Amino acid sequence: AAATRPNVKLRFLADLSHCLFDFVIQLLPTAEEMSVKEDVRKLLERLIRTIEPDSRLLSFGSTANGFSLRNSDMDLCCLIDSGERLSASDLVTMLGDLLERETKFHVKPLPHARIPIVKLSLDPSPGLPLGIACDIGFENRLALENTRLLMCYAMIDPTRVRTLVLFLKVWSKRRKINSPYKGTLSSYGYVLLVIFFLVHVKNPPVLPNLQQMPPLRPISKEDTHLGANNIWFFDDIEVLRQRWHSENTESVAELLIDFFRYYSRDFLYNTGVASIRAGLLKKESKGWQNDLSPGRVNDARERNRLCIEDPFETEFNVSRCVTKDGLYTIRGEFMRASRILQVRPDRAIVAIAELCA
Ligand code: CTP
Ligand code: MG
Repeated sequence: AAATRPNVKLRFLADLSHCLFDFVIQLLPTAEEMSVKEDVRKLLERLIRTIEPDSRLLSFGSTANGFSLRNSDMDLCCLIDSGERLSASDLVTMLGDLLERETKFHVKPLPHARIPIVKLSLDPSPGLPLGIACDIGFENRLALENTRLLMCYAMIDPTRVRTLVLFLKVWSKRRKINSPYKGTLSSYGYVLLVIFFLVHVKNPPVLPNLQQMPPLRPISKEDTHLGANNIWFFDDIEVLRQRWHSENTESVAELLIDFFRYYSRDFLYNTGVASIRAGLLKKESKGWQNDLSPGRVNDARERNRLCIEDPFETEFNVSRCVTKDGLYTIRGEFMRASRILQVRPDRAIVAIAELCA
């Protein structure tokens, strides 16, 4: 029996990789959904240009980074190229009024939010059976750049990176741990955890560190910085495909099992910061340590339970919304997933169903 056990394990891993791949394929948006979304973007852009003729409406987030699931919302960012322009909150109010008048969208302008946005939605219809939800913000250039960074990571190793990320997005949504408003983690946060794991935890790494690769030719500071933030990364995918070959040959299944093991057992939640730019950092070195002094308790401590450094806005903890309870639940879910995969139900499809139950 002992001699057959390695075979059983190998077969399970091959089967699981295969099933994960098939599972996420089914959840990808259809070509029709993508074209409807693109039509909506163009329509909105035309309308916005009646207020700001020099504006462009660009999509970011999952619709633009290759990690989109069926019926995911659409994140749009309006860039205005002319010098003189209205404030973001005035634009949000004006655009809200215009869309209310001219379209069938449900419109909710939030001009006074930290990042002012207009929220739009369309009810389901025969052509759009699940409706559509979309947020429009202004001048969020960092979000456009971090979307491009994630897209480049996805393109280096599409099969492994996209399968892992898409599976974790579905899993985290089904397990109800993907709601920053309720104290758990955003999809963006989970994607950064995956990339951190593939660049800095896996040895040999599955992905290179795009932010630390030297540029092909020298570039000036103006071209690498947006305000105080260094937004440079190696984005020439053609060159990368020729130059970067990962020595890591693990399958998607092996990586997923190890991902869950790492975040349930090994990641240093109390002291560590996951940084895709710089590897594992210390909370202390960023001033993100749990502050126990009286009066500060709720403040810094609640904000820095889980620490994930934004790739460009390095002073920003992407997981600042994760509460004590939220982190407890997330870690519990990592452990649960790890346990299910250790037990190795006899069929991979059963394992996936149980993971996402
Ligand atoms: N974003 C950000 N900082 C955050 C959260 C989000 O800059 N703290 C930006 C990122 O550009 C990210 C985008 O907003 O790609 C969308 O974030 P999110 O909705 O979490 O990710 P999606 O990939 O769009 O996932 P979903 O399909 O669940 O909407
Ligand atoms: Mg989104």
